Amino acid sequence: MAKIGDIDVGEFPLLLAPMEDVSDPPFRALCKEQGADVVYTEFISSEGLIRDAAKSVMKLDIYEKERPVGIQIFGAILESMLRSVEIVEASGPDIIDINFGCPVKKVVSKGAGAGILKDIDLMVSLTKAMVKHTKLPITVKTRLGWDDDSIKIVEVAERLQDVGCKAISIHGRTRAQMYKGEANWHPIAEVKNNSRMHIPVFGNGDVDTPEKAMLMRDKFGLDGAMIGRASIGYPWFFKEVKHFFKTGTHCEPPTMQERVDAARRHLEMAIDWKGETLGVFETRRHYTNYFKGIPHFKEHRMKMVTSDDSTDVFAAFDEVLEAFGDFEFSR
Ligand SMILES: Cc1cc2nc3c(=O)[nH]c(=O)nc-3n(C[C@H](O)[C@H](O)[C@H](O)COP(=O)(O)O)c2cc1C
Repeated sequence: MAKIGDIDVGEFPLLLAPMEDVSDPPFRALCKEQGADVVYTEFISSEGLIRDAAKSVMKLDIYEKERPVGIQIFGAILESMLRSVEIVEASGPDIIDINFGCPVKKVVSKGAGAGILKDIDLMVSLTKAMVKHTKLPITVKTRLGWDDDSIKIVEVAERLQDVGCKAISIHGRTRAQMYKGEANWHPIAEVKNNSRMHIPVFGNGDVDTPEKAMLMRDKFGLDGAMIGRASIGYPWFFKEVKHFFKTGTHCEPPTMQERVDAARRHLEMAIDWKGETLGVFETRRHYTNYFKGIPHFKEHRMKMVTSDDSTDVFAAFDEVLEAFGDFEFSR
């Protein structure tokens, strides 16, 4: 059984990865329904939060049905991070996660995200101060290191644990790799095999089949899998992994009706949460995957991703059901 602080997250939990403009409340709700054990918000700027920037503050919205939920923040300035912990705490998450892994230039150049991998002492001292500043469990998400020559993740993880970090999720790439190449899970297994480690070590990077999740559990011996891209437009991935663990077989892929229902609910929840314009716009990226594999689908997809009016998008869903209702998806 894995525990994040006092929170029991089950045996080999599946965690929805924090993903900017993806891991919002509607998508988290769908993933939760399909078996995600822990969900994280997208990263939120500590500098934005302390300035009460509307965009950052809105990202703090969480719902009872998605618990346990972690809110992820990033930054490199102690005072801003501590003040952000207070602001985040007020919105009632179960976990606060620190992003020490974002590779994007505008984040890294300020020493935040993966930028902090160049200053491990600061990474540890920030974590320590944040742990002391809240009763909520603090978790960390990071990468293997800055580049191939600076992979010290075993030592880093141990130091984070020693200052009170309650779980660590490790993306098996360096910052220099960005998203290129394959994720390397061996250094993550080394972190887990360190006999001094007692907090959960979650693996992340390239888990896109149930078989890979099983490898992460059985061959690499990790405590859980954090799943990102495989879930975009495909919240059923969590259920499929769980089914595979239980039975050793693949469950049937979702039917067209289930896909249309999910896309419809996704859009409805997105509009409820952020209004018509943003709701329509930001749900678009999911449709390609919801309807992946259907031949001659371009015209329908174009309608879904170019319409600015939700009525047209809902009509496109109906047309898809009408035209391809019997389509059998393959795995
Ligand atoms: C669109 C997108 C947005 C992301 N945003 C974040 C983020 O806000 N915070 C974070 O820690 N990682 C972020 N990531 C990285 C993912 O959490 C994850 O570490 C990475 O995608 C590797 O996992 P995967 O192979 O399962 O996708 C993002 C990834 C993607 C694809």
